[in-house]
Amino acid sequence: MTWLITGGAGYIGSHVVRAMTGAGERAVVYDDLSTGRADRVPADVPLVTGSTLDRPLLSRTIAEHGVTGVVHLAAKKQVGESVELPLHYYRENVEGLRGLLDAVVAGDVRSFVFSSSAAVYGSPDVDLVTEETPTLPINPYGETKLTGEWLVRAAGRAYGVATANLRYFNVAGAAAPELADTGVFNLIPMVFEKLTAGRAPLVFGADYPTPDGTCVRDYIHVSDIARAHVAAARHLSAAGGDAGDLTLNIGRGEGVSVREMMDLIAEVTGHAVEPLVTDRRPGDPPRVVASADRVAATLGWKAQYGVRAMIESAWSGWTPRN
Ligand code: WQD
Repeated sequence: MTWLITGGAGYIGSHVVRAMTGAGERAVVYDDLSTGRADRVPADVPLVTGSTLDRPLLSRTIAEHGVTGVVHLAAKKQVGESVELPLHYYRENVEGLRGLLDAVVAGDVRSFVFSSSAAVYGSPDVDLVTEETPTLPINPYGETKLTGEWLVRAAGRAYGVATANLRYFNVAGAAAPELADTGVFNLIPMVFEKLTAGRAPLVFGADYPTPDGTCVRDYIHVSDIARAHVAAARHLSAAGGDAGDLTLNIGRGEGVSVREMMDLIAEVTGHAVEPLVTDRRPGDPPRVVASADRVAATLGWKAQYGVRAMIESAWSGWTPRN
């Protein structure tokens, strides 16, 4: 199999590329390098620089490299930005996907793995989120991911492509320092940034209906996420048309609070963390934790890393900003 990995020069994508090639699959990266970096793509993996909106280039790439499966990660992923620029998010995340699916069908590609998100659930009112929990996104980012899932499933059913929608929970950590997340948009890098600037990290609200009053999330190591893609890709290619359409939560099934994360970060980094409790950040649900039963039963996949490994590896790759 040769897998086209869109977004393969990005944070999660570069981990997926390594996991796929490490498992013996051939990979071709397709990335517009807007946030991705060419130096994250291994030297022996071809890199095609282009947009998912460039339909002719997608078709040419599929034909020239003999692509037989796609793992689609290329997307915009900042929640706040999606509220300010919804048309941009719909264009990149929905139109880009529609064109890619068009090229997939025209190129007779038979397997498609889609990078979705727990953001499709919005603010779930359950202890453990299963794939049957209602999908009620609360921002344009989550809406584009849910629309994307519908597109993927409908196209797969209509044109005989085996598909998997993987709903990632809170991705963190790195397999190697040079693959670390360079954005400062999530809890761990945001705390690191404050600590290295000698300032107090912020807790966005401590009056939530949770055991310690701070929000609870399901953090998952990016290397575990990458392994889930290999398992999904192999499942689809082995089962072919019989694989149908999968929708799977990719999480650990274990909740960790913001306060617990701050304590662990203090231990790992050796910085005394004295957080400042501020107002709630609008739109933050109190608790979002996956049920990871379906992915275990379907793919035999289970997370291996805990939160400490995520913080340690993210810290190894952290370079202080000016
Ligand atoms: C985690 C918790 C914050 C920073 C987002 C997207 C989601 C998905 C993953 C892409 C929250 C708290 C944070 C800080 C804090 N994205 N926090 N102080 O919001 O759960 O998920 O990223 O698919 O769609 O919404 O992740 O890392 O931003 O926040 O107290 O300085 O940490 O309030 O409770 P979130 P996060």
